[in-house]
Amino acid sequence: MPERPVRHFVSIPDFSREELLDTLDLAARMKRGEYTARPLEGRTLAMIFAKSSTRTRVSFEVGTYQLGGHALFLSSRDIQLGRGEPLADTARVLSRMVDGIMIRTFAQSDVDDLARYGSIPVINGLTDLLHPCQIMADLQTIRQEFGPELEPVKVAWVGDGNNMANSWLNAAYRLGFELRLAFPAGYEPDAEILARAQSATKIVVTHDPREAVEGADVVNTDVWTSMGQEEESQKRLRDFQGYIVDEALMGRASQRSIFLHCLPAHRGEEVSDAVIEGPRSRVFDEAENRLHAQKAIMVKVMAPGAA
Ligand code: CP
Ligand code: NVA
Repeated sequence: MPERPVRHFVSIPDFSREELLDTLDLAARMKRGEYTARPLEGRTLAMIFAKSSTRTRVSFEVGTYQLGGHALFLSSRDIQLGRGEPLADTARVLSRMVDGIMIRTFAQSDVDDLARYGSIPVINGLTDLLHPCQIMADLQTIRQEFGPELEPVKVAWVGDGNNMANSWLNAAYRLGFELRLAFPAGYEPDAEILARAQSATKIVVTHDPREAVEGADVVNTDVWTSMGQEEESQKRLRDFQGYIVDEALMGRASQRSIFLHCLPAHRGEEVSDAVIEGPRSRVFDEAENRLHAQKAIMVKVMAPGAA
């Protein structure tokens, strides 16, 4: 029998539209308790973290355990990677011992290299460029709210053109919903990712958060200073003035609108306390869905026969 090619989830477009929807269906079944298989029995996921994490670390570790497997937490400060061992060597060594790698790091090229040199599935747990697992959890939250059809949902992004914004663009590219992005000048999303999404669906780009949010069903934001950008935080505080998602801004969204934030959040900066704690906020469902969405992703790439 021909060997099955190794599948990765380093970017949303690694999955076709059908695979993405199938993964979200599986995540929903998992959340309802309808999936009880343990396809990772006897298998190990290595989790490499070069940045901090609460949700990603806990959801991958708990998720692997619930699927019958074992998760190994590897801080890049402790393993030899942090002392300069080449990524290509780390990839080949881990491929001899574990069954999948989840990595959170700075450069997207490191994740791509891990996938290139290793021979096991690689899952992107956040880079400076992308955060695909978070967007899968967000899409699960949206489907839970509005039903499985994503095309009619209008999504607004208010804030930095960062890893989250880029992954939203990738999701719009694959799934065809309308995405409106409001960011200050100088904080644009990745140009190639933006252009590809614009070739596939309606993408509105503006410097006015009100224009982005007008009639939107989902209002989404994130911190103004991402991990690794701490030295820029004072400048960013000034540059993002006017980009807070508060009740006045939410008042422009559709009647049925919900508020999402990947967390951690800075109340009083990118979002007001009233909005994140208010009736439209779904941030804790969104955080919980990390667990279900990532379990579904792990099954798809690490145990595809068990989906
Ligand atoms: N949203 C998210 O990825 O959270 P953590 O940084 O806590 O993993
Ligand atoms: N954009 C944020 C997301 C944190 C989950 C960061 O990269 O720090």
